[in-house]
Amino acid sequence: MRKIGLLLLGSLLFSWNLMALPQLFLTGDIRGEIKPCGCSQEGDMGGIERSSTYFRQLDQSATDRLWMDLGNFSAPSTAQGLLKSAMIAKHFQQKKLSVILPGPNEFARGTLNFDEFQLPYVLTNQAQNLPHVEASRLLAGQVRVFGYLSPSLLNVGTHKTEYLSSLEDFQRKVKQLVNSQDKYRILLFRGSQAELMEVSKKSLFDLIIPANPAEVEDNQTLEYQLRGKSFFTAPLKGQGITKVDLSQAKIKHEFIWLTDKYADDVRWKADFDLYQKEVEQLFFKYLEEQAALEDKTVYNGAAYCVACHQKEGEKWKQSRHANAWKTLENVKRTNDPECIICHSVGFEKDGFLSAELTPHLSSVQCENCHGVTPPHIPGDDFKASRVKVTQSTCKNCHVGSHSPSFSFEKYWPRIQH
Ligand code: HEC
Ligand code: HEC
Ligand code: HEC
Ligand code: HEC
Repeated sequence: MRKIGLLLLGSLLFSWNLMALPQLFLTGDIRGEIKPCGCSQEGDMGGIERSSTYFRQLDQSATDRLWMDLGNFSAPSTAQGLLKSAMIAKHFQQKKLSVILPGPNEFARGTLNFDEFQLPYVLTNQAQNLPHVEASRLLAGQVRVFGYLSPSLLNVGTHKTEYLSSLEDFQRKVKQLVNSQDKYRILLFRGSQAELMEVSKKSLFDLIIPANPAEVEDNQTLEYQLRGKSFFTAPLKGQGITKVDLSQAKIKHEFIWLTDKYADDVRWKADFDLYQKEVEQLFFKYLEEQAALEDKTVYNGAAYCVACHQKEGEKWKQSRHANAWKTLENVKRTNDPECIICHSVGFEKDGFLSAELTPHLSSVQCENCHGVTPPHIPGDDFKASRVKVTQSTCKNCHVGSHSPSFSFEKYWPRIQH
């Protein structure tokens, strides 16, 4: 008897093994980040090229895998942003993304992004049939994935969306869609904590994965408890990938950070070269448009200030701020608006245009912190009206992975004047 029992158990285990659940890889809120900026060592994580290498290594070891994305991969819908979104979509397609929950970023142009970047979108609470978006998706014949995006995230101000239905409607639809053959049910979720509690109450899902709501990558919360239930999410901006093992009774997860331990996949080099060229063309077009406008430059540049403030000028010249443009020259990014913005004075705010047109406004200078400074002489009321420089002034640039170690107490003494 006992022997037969063991045999039975053995064959059961064997068949369970055959049906083993694939490994899960999670990303989300990539927000157009195609490559780390290189501003700081500590923040040097992520990017398509490293992610591609990571997935290639997995594919070589022939692991059964599902890649799920929690949405908001799109960059803002500017010309440069669209180039970046297209590259991320291409990476998704190449590495066979299994499913993606569209986020508010994907709706930034109505439903245009769904047509343009055809991906395996899943959104259970769509109020109308969105192009290329399914209500649920069965993966590997056994894992059914649902998606919830809170309507409150698209209803901004008086603008009400017609794309999404309510949480109640979502729950109703889930009940219609569940199939007794589903071995495993996963919900990709983006909404409030109250909504999260509500959907987790009814035990409809084996795993609920909420999107990462953090604004910036410093101090982001990747795992937390909510009324006794545990949740985890994916690192922001493609800096890392959450690897999930579903096969154990207790789900295990770990965070893989895409540091320079993962080499750039050279297959992406041509795409990045092309991207850089296209960004440069956009920048030259922008300069042409600016040239046609009246010169509105309102900034004076450091040389003007230093004529009177020599002591401050000396300190500034020794600081890395004075070198910020040289840095962009070294990495050949002087024609990329997304780099220029923090490495020059008043870009896109009636200040810096280009190193050729406004050489006196390159690098970080007095007016980045002190604001547009009108000419002033002793005795005028400048002292009363001048802007106070605070920590938040610094955080315009010393933000997120651009400067993860920033603290005013540590940084200010290095440039104090
Ligand atoms: C939001 C503002 C911001 C943007 C945008 C930005 N930078 Fe930076 N960058 C910084 C700050 C702040 C530092 C200094 C960080 C520190 O030391 O804490 C820095 C430092 C750097 C450094 C390191 C300099 C050195 O000597 O170590 C490089 C290289 C650099 N940036 C390149 C770039 C490139 C390339 C881009 C565009 C892809 C870019 N930056 C966009 C703010 C920015
Ligand atoms: C013509 C000489 C002159 C120039 C040029 C000049 N300043 Fe001043 N600045 C002064 C003098 C003198 C004071 C002191 C004013 C007072 O005490 O009322 C002062 C005060 C200041 C203060 C306030 C100091 C305090 O104690 O509150 C700041 C900040 C400042 N200047 C920044 C700048 C910046 C930035 C520039 C360049 C855009 C600049 N100044 C250009 C002469 C000049
Ligand atoms: C306009 C954007 C901008 C603002 C505002 C700004 N910084 Fe910076 N800061 C930079 C950039 C860019 C660099 C890197 C320059 C380089 O090396 O190329 C930098 C570098 C530094 C460094 C050198 C870092 C190191 O490791 O030695 C210090 C210190 C610093 N900033 C302090 C401050 C403080 C304090 C404030 C606010 C009072 C501030 N910064 C405001 C852009 C900015
Ligand atoms: C990275 C930001 C930053 C840059 C760049 C910067 N300053 Fe300042 N500056 C400050 C801060 C912060 C203070 C102290 C707080 C305050 O007075 O607002 C200050 C103070 C001053 C003061 C007042 C000193 C006093 O005794 O009260 C003067 C004058 C001044 N800066 C001039 C300059 C000049 C000139 C330059 C360029 C050569 C310059 N600053 C560049 C952030 C900056």
